[in-house]
Amino acid sequence: MPGDKSISHRALIFGALSVGETVVTGLSQGDDVARTEAALRHLGAEIWAPEADTRVIFGRGVGGLCEPASALDLGNSGTGARLLMGMVASHHLTAHFTGDASLSNRPMDRVILPLRQMGADISARDGNLLPLTVAGTRSPVPIEYVLPTPSAQVKSAILLAALNTPGDTSVIEPVPSRDHTERMMAHFGATITEREDGDGRRRITVKGEAELTGRPVSIPGDPSSAAFLIAAALAIPTSQVTIQNVGTNSLRTGFFDTLREMGANIELSSIQTVGGEPVADVTVKHSRLIGIHVPPERAPTMIDEYPVLAVLAASAEGQTVVRGVSELRIKESDRISAMTTGLRACGVTVDEFEDGFAVTGLGRPVPGGAAVHTYLDHRVAMSFLVLGMTSEEPIVVNGAETIDTSFPEFMDLLTGLGAEVSQKPWTRNDYRD
Ligand code: S3P
Repeated sequence: MPGDKSISHRALIFGALSVGETVVTGLSQGDDVARTEAALRHLGAEIWAPEADTRVIFGRGVGGLCEPASALDLGNSGTGARLLMGMVASHHLTAHFTGDASLSNRPMDRVILPLRQMGADISARDGNLLPLTVAGTRSPVPIEYVLPTPSAQVKSAILLAALNTPGDTSVIEPVPSRDHTERMMAHFGATITEREDGDGRRRITVKGEAELTGRPVSIPGDPSSAAFLIAAALAIPTSQVTIQNVGTNSLRTGFFDTLREMGANIELSSIQTVGGEPVADVTVKHSRLIGIHVPPERAPTMIDEYPVLAVLAASAEGQTVVRGVSELRIKESDRISAMTTGLRACGVTVDEFEDGFAVTGLGRPVPGGAAVHTYLDHRVAMSFLVLGMTSEEPIVVNGAETIDTSFPEFMDLLTGLGAEVSQKPWTRNDYRD
């Protein structure tokens, strides 16, 4: 598997905030991570690319970023935008943030609010949207912040701002979300502690005015990208696929738990540690799946996997019910709506709720024979391409180029596994509902 997107953003950011040299290997080749890299260059980091997936970063040190001469364009990347907003909020500089049509529609108040409490001056279109401007503060103040909804991006934005803030800044998480920022902060030498805060809440505290030192980082493979290949192998009779180097951090593997409950044959082997993160080879065999009720509390550990789960649920036996995931409405697209609309067009019965969906599995391949839209959402695009591998009639995916934001290798891997994909430029006739 190519490098994890979440961890790749963080490796570049910590490299830029360190003194000395950081060598990152196994970096994600997606456009999202490239946007973060370009933004860090604008902020003064020196970055070399000796190989496609390797970067050598000469950082500026915490507090040492420079004011960018032009706007930071984060493309489609919510992680890039939100983490970098946190990083600049406690630096005495002004940065403008822009993005594509999808990112410009996603709420930013979740990071604006805590960063304002720390002293940053932020003005955003309609108070909440990109384009926005962060005027970082010369004298940041530490805060204690209880996350209103589980979000690793919001948590990370605050923890990054905390690095250049005097005193201790704490984030309290009622429900744990992916902890890549915490792991990497410790790896780069920051003082970061975690403890139980009662009622299962996690309190994460960063000691400010940190000094980070450049370190080597190898990025584990991305479980959220692997999910599409795993889904294809499960759905297609006689398949057996082993995917090497898949990150298995337990805050990312809720999808595996869900699949096992549905009857999937999935095994992990060669378990090891890469870059401070657990990694394994994942072997998947075609399995007859049954519908289940996915526990809402599992959402943070499989938040990016619901679109492809919906696809598997469509040919499973019985109903799959997903509730408590209204966060899906504000991802790269409204994923509840995008998946409901696309699956219905392919002949599947789907009930849509404000906070989820219920898919009535057909217990056999779905009819297909429809055109679906991706709404600038890479995970919607990949989900419907996987569905097209088993549907009775082909599925046309309009806007599949959005896959390049996270997983440019996807099409080649899918065709290498036997998919027949014909690609052609978009024409107006493709756009039929
Ligand atoms: C991410 C956190 C999640 C996830 C996103 C990547 C991260 O978003 O959906 O793809 O790298 O921190 P939220 O923080 O909005 O849950």
